[in-house]
Formats: sequence, C-alpha cells, structure tokens
Amino acid sequence: MLSWETDAAPNNGRVALVTGAARGIGLGISAWLIAEGWQVVLADIDRERGSKVARALGNNAWFVAMDVSQEELVSLGVAEVLGQFGRLDALVCNAAIADPHTPPVEELDLRRWKRMLDVNLTGPMLLAKYCAPYLRGHRGAIVNIASTRASQSEADCEAYAASKGGLVALTHALAVSLGPEVRVNCVSPGWIDARDPSQQRLAPLSVFDHAQHPVGRVGTVEDVAALVAWLLSDSAGFVTGQQYVIDGGMSRKMIYQD
Ligand SMILES: NC(=O)c1ccc[n+]([C@@H]2O[C@H](COP(=O)([O-])OP(=O)(O)OC[C@H]3O[C@@H](n4cnc5c(N)ncnc54)[C@H](O)[C@@H]3O)[C@@H](O)[C@H]2O)c1
Repeated sequence: MLSWETDAAPNNGRVALVTGAARGIGLGISAWLIAEGWQVVLADIDRERGSKVARALGNNAWFVAMDVSQEELVSLGVAEVLGQFGRLDALVCNAAIADPHTPPVEELDLRRWKRMLDVNLTGPMLLAKYCAPYLRGHRGAIVNIASTRASQSEADCEAYAASKGGLVALTHALAVSLGPEVRVNCVSPGWIDARDPSQQRLAPLSVFDHAQHPVGRVGTVEDVAALVAWLLSDSAGFVTGQQYVIDGGMSRKMIYQD
C-alpha cells in the first residue's frame, strides 16, 4: 500500500520524482531541488527511512514506497503522484543496487545478475514508461544516474558495469523517442562520498583519497545534485541524450604505473 507521509497540501510548483531518495545521492538531489523551489516526491524501497527523511525535508517533500524493478509498483506509485499533484515535470532515476562488487564471473549467480539489471536498468525504463505521458504534457526532463563504471572497470563488477552501460544507452534512446517534448540525459558520477554524515563511526577519507583526483578532492552529493538540477532546468533546454561525467577528472588521468 502506497502512502503519503505528510499532511501538507501540494502547492502549484514544479513536481519532481526522485528514486532511491532515502539516502545518499538521491537524498542530496531531493534536498537541492526543494531548495530551488521544487516539490519533490522521494521514492524508495526503504519505507522507514524514506518516510523519515521526507518528514525532515519539510512541506515540499513527500514519500512514496516503491521497488523500481516491479512494474505494478512503479505504475501505482506514478499514478499516486499524478493523483496528488496532477502534473509531473521531472524524473530522476537514481535508485540502484549501488555496490558494484559481485563474485567472480565464474561464480556469479544468475539471480544476482538479473536482480542488478532489474533494479539498475529495467527500473529506469519502467519509470520512463509510466512517467513519459505526463512529462510530455509539461515539457519535462529525465535525468538517469549512471556511473563512470559504464566505461571503466575493476575486477568483479560485471553486472553493475553492464547495468550502467545499458543506462547510458537507454538515455540516448529515450531522448530520441521522447523528444522534442521531453529531454533525457544521464549523469555518471565517479567517487562520491555519499555516506550518511550522522553515522558516528564513519572512517574519514585519507589525504590520498582526495589528492589522487585532479580537482584535489572526492565528490559530494551536492556536486551531483547541482548538475542534475541544471539538467532539469530550462537553462539546459538544448541538451538531450548526453552523458555528463562528474568525477573530479579521474577518468581523464593516465593510469599506467612506472
Ligand atoms: N556513491 C558513489 O560513489 C556513486 C558513484 C557512481 C554512481 N553512483 C550511483 O548513484 C546512485 C546513488 O548512489 P548512492 O551511493 O547514493 O547509493 P545508496 O546505496 O546510498 O542509495 C541507493 C538508494 O536506492 C534505494 N534502492 C535500492 N534498490 C531499490 C529499489 N529496487 N527500488 C527503489 N529504491 C531502491 C536504496 O534503498 C537507497 O536509498 C546509484 O545509481 C549509484 O549507482 C554512486
């Protein structure tokens, strides 16, 4: 059963649906958009945490529980958003199984592979499927959150890399299918410190963690949120089908070791 977690009446501002918004980058994007005046519906599989953070974000935040890999739940969730607001202006597909590591491919369980693809790739397709009619009506925009791992790898990340590579391709396919009414872009973050700062036992990042980046630091959720907000804005009106890498320059470095 889908539920609304605040009693606040929706106002007439633009409405964004952000998936995977109970924590990390999705929460940061939601907070940023609210600060810019958006009404934001946070969607997540984690109902308890999602409800809590939506309440903490104030009167322009709502929560809807949703497993993005389940077509019926996506359909119901989107219908709920439209029932409440009567409009949808932006979709941010951020929900994912974000840990890229899986067992070596020789031992990779097919169910694990399929679950990663279902959440990270099929989820954004389902969201686009059910949101597109409403986004078309308001000349809206979609931003998918991919990863630099769409084009770079370390060992034992096959499912994650494939899911994010697929998401980059899904992005340009959707941009062509949904244009000119809907723009569709993706953001590919590198290392973003998306850990919850309220967690007391977080190990601090090292000097080397930061210094290895050409910009001199690891990324923050705000770095990603600012780019997503721009891509959703009218200022990005001539931009669609693109992948924006946001990694402090890491993927531009030569990595051969002496
Ligand atoms: N943090 C990074 O360094 C980094 C780098 C590159 C890409 N990314 C991408 O950014 C996005 C967010 O990453 P993060 O680090 O904040 O991850 P996170 O694990 O902190 O947050 C992911 C959120 O998605 C939710 N979620 C997971 N499965 C879901 C499902 N089936 N349906 C609905 N919600 C679901 C989780 O409950 C969680 O709230 C992901 O797409 C991830 O792949 C992150």
